[in-house]
Amino acid sequence: MSNHSNSGGLSHEKVETSNFLMIVLILVVLLFGGMVEIVPLFFQKSTTEAVPGLKPYTALQVAGRDVYVREGCYNCHSQMIRPFRAETLRYGPYSVAGEFVYDHPFQWGSKRTGPDLARVGGKYSDEWHRIHLINPRDVVPESNMPAYPWLATAAVDGASLPAHMSGLRKLGAPYSDDEIAKATEDVKGKTELDAVIAYLQGMGIHRK
Ligand code: HEC
Repeated sequence: MSNHSNSGGLSHEKVETSNFLMIVLILVVLLFGGMVEIVPLFFQKSTTEAVPGLKPYTALQVAGRDVYVREGCYNCHSQMIRPFRAETLRYGPYSVAGEFVYDHPFQWGSKRTGPDLARVGGKYSDEWHRIHLINPRDVVPESNMPAYPWLATAAVDGASLPAHMSGLRKLGAPYSDDEIAKATEDVKGKTELDAVIAYLQGMGIHRK
């Protein structure tokens, strides 16, 4: 085979002995393969439409989600239940794309120093979360989660919420003008701890 010469055309030998041609053709194949896998996802209902019952975050939850991101909770907690039995037995139904259409950016994560939180909503009372976030050791003695006591005294930054929610509306969250207009009023007197708890309690409850 190796001494078989092929005159003219794009023979294997020509491709395999030219670095440049090889690189270009590999890129063309990767580009095509990538497009075939990725482009349909932008048009599939299962990835672009909200699952039934999914609601956009309330003003307080939007604020809580910001605190979650700011405090780096995602460094230890994922929000995506994989489709494996060990996962579904522990956490509940596995996550699907339609649950995250209002998440910008999503908080799936991959680091699990702590448990996955995708279905933590309703698992504990608000009071449990309050104690847990102020000092995790008070409810889970062996916990190595950091304490976040300052959340209990920090007021929610309500002034920035209307702009934030308009931004989310541009990305597809169906907020009405009215909801956006009264966002600041909605979080009046609330602490960042209230906000994070509202966010946690809404997590995954549409699909238990
Ligand atoms: C350094 C890693 C780390 C960080 C950062 C962290 N956690 Fe945790 N978290 C844990 C661990 C470990 C547990 C399990 C022990 C426990 O319940 O305290 C846990 C448990 C939890 C639970 C209970 C989950 C369940 O199903 O029992 C919640 C809710 C939670 N964390 C929320 C948060 C929030 C909100 C933040 C950010 C403000 C945060 N965590 C930051 C490590 C972390």
